[in-house]
Amino acid sequence: MYSKSIQYIGCDDADMKLFESQYVTPEGMCYNSYLIIDDKIAVMDTVDPRKTDEWLKKLSVALNGRKPDYLVVQHMEPDHSGSISAFRNLYPEAVIVASAKALQFMPQFDEKLNVGNTMTVKDGDTLSLGHHTLSFITAPMVHWPEVIMTYCPEEEVLFSADGFGKFGVIDADPDDWACEARRYYFNICGKYGGPVSTVLKKVAGLSIKTICALHGPILDGERMEEAIRLYSIWSNYDIETEGVLIAHASIHGNTAKAAEKLAEILKKKGAKKVVVADLCRDDMAEVIEDAYRMNKLVVCASSYEGDVFPPMHMFLWKLGLKAYQNRTIGMVENGTWAPSAGRAMRALIEPMKNVTIVEPLVSLRSSMKESDIPQLEALADAMLA
Ligand code: FEO
Repeated sequence: MYSKSIQYIGCDDADMKLFESQYVTPEGMCYNSYLIIDDKIAVMDTVDPRKTDEWLKKLSVALNGRKPDYLVVQHMEPDHSGSISAFRNLYPEAVIVASAKALQFMPQFDEKLNVGNTMTVKDGDTLSLGHHTLSFITAPMVHWPEVIMTYCPEEEVLFSADGFGKFGVIDADPDDWACEARRYYFNICGKYGGPVSTVLKKVAGLSIKTICALHGPILDGERMEEAIRLYSIWSNYDIETEGVLIAHASIHGNTAKAAEKLAEILKKKGAKKVVVADLCRDDMAEVIEDAYRMNKLVVCASSYEGDVFPPMHMFLWKLGLKAYQNRTIGMVENGTWAPSAGRAMRALIEPMKNVTIVEPLVSLRSSMKESDIPQLEALADAMLA
């Protein structure tokens, strides 16, 4: 029970270790769903098909013999829409409330689904449940185009769809919302800073006491204020932490040694925070998160097949895909006969928005030698200038 009228009926999925088949989730995942009980009853979203049976049982207990009047579908990605068909089979009279695009997507995921009674809502539409009103806010590209959020003024609750979500079961990291919320945000919504910023402006005038996202804990009080503050920074691609991230992709460890040496030099020269990441072994989603978190990035990579070692290619390609911007980037390349990593990395970095590539490009031959230290010193000076 979250409030007298709103019940949490979501499901933890502690066994989910690779969310969306790409993000490691050591602390599992949760698919949040809520029930609003009034003269009319509304279910807020379904859950991933992995948890359909558990969710339907929770729903049935919470309904306590009543029947739902509405199923509000805020987002059609299967981790939230994956139990719509099962719901529909049990509750054929309920009205499915969603955006036009969501209703278009619905049968695409299940051709056997008889969508049945529906209500199409657009920005500003409202639905009265009796003593509670649901006010719909379109939130396209947070994180798909059909997304809506829902505000209930009587409870001062914002149902925020994927917004303000995080990795982990619902009570994972109770004292550190930001760590896994940041990794979730930049990897899943990072490309959509503009749309996130737009929806933050739309809801800024609302009196919100609680945010109920589709993943992660229910947010209120100071934790909610902090989440809103961070979302404002993240969606604007602003700097959260002054620091340098050094990301390396090293075949035999020699490029990694140069990256560590550069970290040592940067610290000696007064860099506030320096983090070294191994793109071949660390969780790349975590490295992407750190790239956005800090204002400066140095990429160090081996040359490979006249190009750049694939883990670095993947990293920079993903950053480009996720609209990485407003940052300063330095480069270290390594190669035995014809270093090509610098050229390849530059080609991936140059199209990024408002990114400054600092010189010199440090170019190593096979391994770092004493004679290479002045180049690393010069790069460190340029990064800190
Ligand atoms: Fe949690 Fe975009 O799905």
